[in-house]
Amino acid sequence: MANALKLFALRQAARLIYCVRKIHDLFWKSVADLVELTLSEEQAAAWTRFHYSSRSGQYVHNGYNNSGLYDWERRAIDDYFPKSPARILLTAAGGGREAIALAQLGYEVVALEPEEQFYFELTKACAGDESLTAMQTSHEQLIATPPTDLPCFDGVVIGWGSFSHLPKRDEVYALMETLQGLCPKGPILTSFFVRQPPHQLSRSRQRLRQFIKSWSPIKRTLDGYLRFDYRLGLVRTYDQQWLDELAAHVDCHVTTFEPYPYGHAVLVPNKNTVDDA
Ligand SMILES: C[S@@+](CC[C@H](N)C(=O)[O-])C[C@H]1O[C@@H](n2cnc3c(N)ncnc32)[C@H](O)[C@@H]1O
Repeated sequence: MANALKLFALRQAARLIYCVRKIHDLFWKSVADLVELTLSEEQAAAWTRFHYSSRSGQYVHNGYNNSGLYDWERRAIDDYFPKSPARILLTAAGGGREAIALAQLGYEVVALEPEEQFYFELTKACAGDESLTAMQTSHEQLIATPPTDLPCFDGVVIGWGSFSHLPKRDEVYALMETLQGLCPKGPILTSFFVRQPPHQLSRSRQRLRQFIKSWSPIKRTLDGYLRFDYRLGLVRTYDQQWLDELAAHVDCHVTTFEPYPYGHAVLVPNKNTVDDA
């Protein structure tokens, strides 16, 4: 009898936890749909800025900024970048993690970062190191006013994950064109959230999305590559197909695309590679 009761209680507990989990999932999926379908790209960019300006402290810590390149970054640099000494343009540099590590490998680095507090850390890292230069610039500013006074770079590193912070497709193309202009013969290492193949949406979710879309003032074309991230707002995701398209747009090809341990790819020019130059 006691055993039967225990079994009954156990089943009820399992059922309850299953239900709570279902409600939790449903809640987050609805929030994700709501944000994805109603947030403009400008609002998404503001959400991302808010995250970095007030919620993301690690890039101001010396320990983190001196922790060196991740293994996948190191492999990409070793395998596809010209050997040092060479000039590298680094965007979205944060507090300087990649910049410091690249300078230690013997590279000359121009590092860009828009966020005030990270830029401050970056300038501290650059102080007294002639191989490091810091500029306070975002991807959007780089596209709008590409620097004309810098000699060509031998390689570009788009700072960790920041390729996902351009919600507008046009801006992604424009950034690639700008970077290619600044580094016409070298590789471009970029990293991003990886696009997961879309799951078949349940009918109720399809209906919910239809309802939100009909009511939303945002009439953005849904290209399936934007998704909601609770920290960063909308993030742009990538897969091999879109990277190939992007590379072709700037007369490059994707020489490596790895979804793990963190999504990254290296694009190299079709002609005039560093070796041919
Ligand atoms: C994941 S953090 C990486 C920081 C640094 N590269 C690192 O790995 O330690 C992403 C960086 O992208 C920057 N960022 C966000 N939006 C950006 C934008 N629109 N243009 C350029 N950088 C941006 C953030 O300020 C932040 O420093």
